[in-house]
Amino acid sequence: MEVTEKRQRVFSGIQPSGNITMGNYMGAITNWVAMQDLYDCLFCVVDMHAITVRQDPKKLREQTLSLLALLIGCGLDPEKNIMYIQSHVPQHAELSWILNCYTMYGELSRMTQFKDKSQKHADNINAGLFDYPVLMAADILLYNADYVPIGEDQKQHLELARNIAQRFNNHHGEVFTVPEPYIPKVGGRIMSLAEPDKKMSKSDTNPNAYILLLDKPDDIMRKFKRAVTDSEAKVEYREGKSGVNNLMTIYSVATGKSISEIENEFAGKGYGDFKTAVGEAVVEMLRPIREKTEDVLKNKDYLESVYAKNAALASRLAERNLEKIRKKVGFVAKPRG
Ligand code: TRP
Repeated sequence: MEVTEKRQRVFSGIQPSGNITMGNYMGAITNWVAMQDLYDCLFCVVDMHAITVRQDPKKLREQTLSLLALLIGCGLDPEKNIMYIQSHVPQHAELSWILNCYTMYGELSRMTQFKDKSQKHADNINAGLFDYPVLMAADILLYNADYVPIGEDQKQHLELARNIAQRFNNHHGEVFTVPEPYIPKVGGRIMSLAEPDKKMSKSDTNPNAYILLLDKPDDIMRKFKRAVTDSEAKVEYREGKSGVNNLMTIYSVATGKSISEIENEFAGKGYGDFKTAVGEAVVEMLRPIREKTEDVLKNKDYLESVYAKNAALASRLAERNLEKIRKKVGFVAKPRG
């Protein structure tokens, strides 16, 4: 890339829903860490999305701050990236209202995540839950992001954001960049340690199924020792060995070793040795993350300065774009000063 070339922009949002698992880290955050040197990135903790399902206010506040600290702990640099809290930049909500008027009821009713969540939260199918994808489109379009790193489950939402952008552009000229999904190549799918045919998820009822980024070394070792494998006692990557395959993937990501190197390393050895090695590799991978996160969380002033400064930067970018958008839809320009 030429030095003079303007960098492309990346936006991603992450929900402050409790702790993050090693699966989220390997599948998503490591990619963000790699992207920070190649793109102009915005990483946003989406507390406004979070309240579409009931939250305990005190917990939401804690989780928002600890997630921001954790992202820094994972190696995202708040000097390089715009890392902030969604509700601190009111332009997200404002654009979301405008985009509501360019989104069809039918489109939102077809969203599979809305249907799933309506079933899960049948006592609270609120308008925000229905409108969730429009707020997400606003997050992305507000900054004219070129790329949006997302998992499979968010593809439909991104497709909707593209449709909204195109529809708006058809009415008003080229206002929005139509964003592209950025689907990670590696480390995409880390499976449950207890039921390796299921994705690792922090909402699993069995805490032995997942590793949280801030889990203590003893807990990590214990969970790997209990990880489900098979009765073959061969460290080989093969169809039908989902438990072993998963542990090999994890070990590979944690150590940088290839699958065939791992097969050689454990040839003739049992699962006991293998699980211990995987556990130790993960402990070492997560140790600096936990230590850095704990440091950041202890230093409230630093954390506050990070999110204050970055929200101001985001807000400036957002406002510049919104001024243009307001004009396009026919609002009277806000008097200055
Ligand atoms: N809906 C996303 C998720 O649950 C979070 C999100 C909100 C997001 N706004 C975004 C992701 C904008 C990418 C871009 O994972």
